[in-house]
Amino acid sequence: MKQSSALKIASSAEVIPLPVKSAPPGASPMAMRASQYPELRYMGSKKRLLPWIHQVLDTLDFESALDPFSGTGCVAYLMKTMGRRVIASDFLNFTSVVARATVENGTVRLDGKAIKRLIDPTPAAHDFIAKTFDGVFFTAADRQFLDRVSGNIQHLENPYEQALAYAALFRSCLKRQPRGVFTVSGDLSRYDDGRRDLRLSLEEHFLEQIEVFNASVFDNGRRNHAMRSDVFDLPKKSVDLVYLDPPYVPRSDDNCYIKRYHFLEGLSCYWQGLPIDEGTKVKKIAKRYTPFSYRRTAVEAFDSMFARFAKSTIVLSYSSNGFPDLDQLVSLMERHKQAVTVFEKPHRYHFGTHVGVERAIVTEYLIVGR
Ligand SMILES: C[S@@+](CC[C@H](N)C(=O)[O-])C[C@H]1O[C@@H](n2cnc3c(N)ncnc32)[C@H](O)[C@@H]1O
Repeated sequence: MKQSSALKIASSAEVIPLPVKSAPPGASPMAMRASQYPELRYMGSKKRLLPWIHQVLDTLDFESALDPFSGTGCVAYLMKTMGRRVIASDFLNFTSVVARATVENGTVRLDGKAIKRLIDPTPAAHDFIAKTFDGVFFTAADRQFLDRVSGNIQHLENPYEQALAYAALFRSCLKRQPRGVFTVSGDLSRYDDGRRDLRLSLEEHFLEQIEVFNASVFDNGRRNHAMRSDVFDLPKKSVDLVYLDPPYVPRSDDNCYIKRYHFLEGLSCYWQGLPIDEGTKVKKIAKRYTPFSYRRTAVEAFDSMFARFAKSTIVLSYSSNGFPDLDQLVSLMERHKQAVTVFEKPHRYHFGTHVGVERAIVTEYLIVGR
């Protein structure tokens, strides 16, 4: 491993160098599988960092792992490819559905019969999406398709088939939406740069994405599990390692997941129990409180989270542009763990594509407490 991306020692943190490997990071067949995990362009996704995360995790001794901020599910999936027993959880429903399809599910794929049922053209019994999001998101045909497929998914008996269908649908919606977020609405022609993703209908995307998610299914011989829970409400089960990737207090803008992905969260349950805020242009639902998003609560939240997982090896993902800063986090972790090591890597984040691209160059950290 190159020195530049290897190690940073913060204040009193212990130094444990990574072993030098002859093969490049991510070259093992298992890690190769993880690198093909479907990209969801999700805020804070660690998909592009998987080879580096794999290299760090590979130095640690663990059989079972919990990822309680699973987001896209890519890190939980990486640990699954490493043969570990994995629990993935997130407080959003749509992200936990994705983890159910890719992490918990080891054998079920959508076959021709299931696909036929999913795209059955019988008109939908409900038109909530067609009506509510008229002039907001997608074309009229796309919205009708979403109403129809939402009903058809319920006709699949197997929960993993349902989860796979939802995962394919979420990724289709993200691809069809110009910047991969649901913060912009109405006439989006200014974003149209001729990209294939913007030309395909939602139904065409859906059929492609079913193949993509089918290809992600594999059995690692362990009983893996996907859940939906706030990190502080998770049942206290003993696991060897906890990978923590909470949102961080941003220096600018905000980090609200509901603001960006409210449509997918609503779609995941057809907005049952999620009232629309009619005063918003993009028809949002209420945002979910998390203490990690605010300066006044973040430090205490990290402290209680470290206390909660003190018996496990803790691996915390963090960025140089977050609050609290690295030294404070290391000191906090040292209150609960005997030895703390910090690995660092420069990373460039991309949000959106081509037009209106936003970039952020940050240093990524993996803070390991044993
Ligand atoms: C930085 S993202 C995780 C990204 C993920 N590691 C990946 O690579 O895709 C943070 C995630 O934490 C979730 N989250 C925020 N606060 C939470 C809480 N209190 N409990 C559980 N999940 C929470 C968000 O829904 C979001 O998916």
